[in-house]
Amino acid sequence: MEHLIHSRVKDIEISGIRKFFNMVSHHPNLISLTIGQPDFPTPEHVKEAGIEAISNNFTTYTHNAGFLELRQAACDFVREKYSLDYSEEEVIVTVGASQALDIAFRTILEEGVEVILPGPVYPGYEPLIRMCGAKPVYVDTRGNGFRLSADLVAPYINERTRCIVLPYPSNPTGATLSEQELLEFAHLLKDRPIWILSDEIYSELVYSGRHYSIAKWLRNQTIVINGLSKSHSMTGWRIGFVFAPSFLMKHMLKVHQYSVSCTSSISQKAAFTALTAGKDDAEEMRKQYKERMEYTYDRLVNMGLHVEKPTGAFYLFPSIASFGQPSFDFALDLVNQAGVAVVPGSAFSQYGEGYVRLSYAYSFETLKEGLDRLERYIYEKQKQA
Ligand SMILES: Cc1ncc(COP(=O)(O)O)c(C=O)c1O
Repeated sequence: MEHLIHSRVKDIEISGIRKFFNMVSHHPNLISLTIGQPDFPTPEHVKEAGIEAISNNFTTYTHNAGFLELRQAACDFVREKYSLDYSEEEVIVTVGASQALDIAFRTILEEGVEVILPGPVYPGYEPLIRMCGAKPVYVDTRGNGFRLSADLVAPYINERTRCIVLPYPSNPTGATLSEQELLEFAHLLKDRPIWILSDEIYSELVYSGRHYSIAKWLRNQTIVINGLSKSHSMTGWRIGFVFAPSFLMKHMLKVHQYSVSCTSSISQKAAFTALTAGKDDAEEMRKQYKERMEYTYDRLVNMGLHVEKPTGAFYLFPSIASFGQPSFDFALDLVNQAGVAVVPGSAFSQYGEGYVRLSYAYSFETLKEGLDRLERYIYEKQKQA
């Protein structure tokens, strides 16, 4: 029967992050710096709101797009924080940012069109793009601090280009785009028949300046993806948001409806508290991430590794090219020799080869132990070279 499975689905591989983690997670006494989720618990008042939702029997289907007050709260949140202007008809509450990406791509992509992405990049986009029959086109950002720019993108635009993905702050590199860089994109793309998919899931975790969204300038062409997984440490609640102009939203809502009907009513209630009473909950976590980032960055630099200083998210992406080993082999050897797990850069497209991703969403104690082990490993490696 296997020949009756869709070839595009058969061609997709499980993500390199998951693959690597499955391989090494049984290693005894392993310090893992691989995980892309906050190590803080969900804020107490948000958890209470979920419990109350169950007690009060808020356990039925909601409006397909999410209950009205939640959608209004989501609009208020992005208006206040990022100066975005959306109405409650222009937002859908999704099952994490992941489902928002899925319904967005399925609404705008078709056979043969192209999607431009920065490389290295989060591995969640390519499979969704391919399942739509579209083609991912990677633009090498390594020479530009991992930041996609209007100048880098321009030569790749042609009549097949349907969408450009702007995933900033970036997983895996921690790069962000400035207001000026976004304005240059706006200038390049204005009135062209191209969508911009702006994945802003790390928008509350910015360490220098503030977060800007391209939707401020190109509202009619932009699909904004966001959610509470990272900002409110709610990865398991599965709450995401997609914002888009109403003429697109009415179609995206059909895909969403036939996909999941609606997001969990209980999680939606918790999300309402997160976006209202808890709208600044991320601030304390952001401060702590920043301290951890400074510490981890300094340690890596002192080890002699070349690394860009992140301005957002909770990852560092040092180069390991000087060791002359594929990133997968380097990461596997690091686990076996030193008991530290990092993600091979090759999980983030071919442009991630020669790098590894470290997450600093860990306690100082874990970070210190992991970095001590990494330092000893690198010292030994350099001695042997
Ligand atoms: C850039 C990026 N987009 C989307 C997601 C998916 O987020 P969620 O857990 O809300 O589905 C992640 C998760 O790591 C991510 O890093």
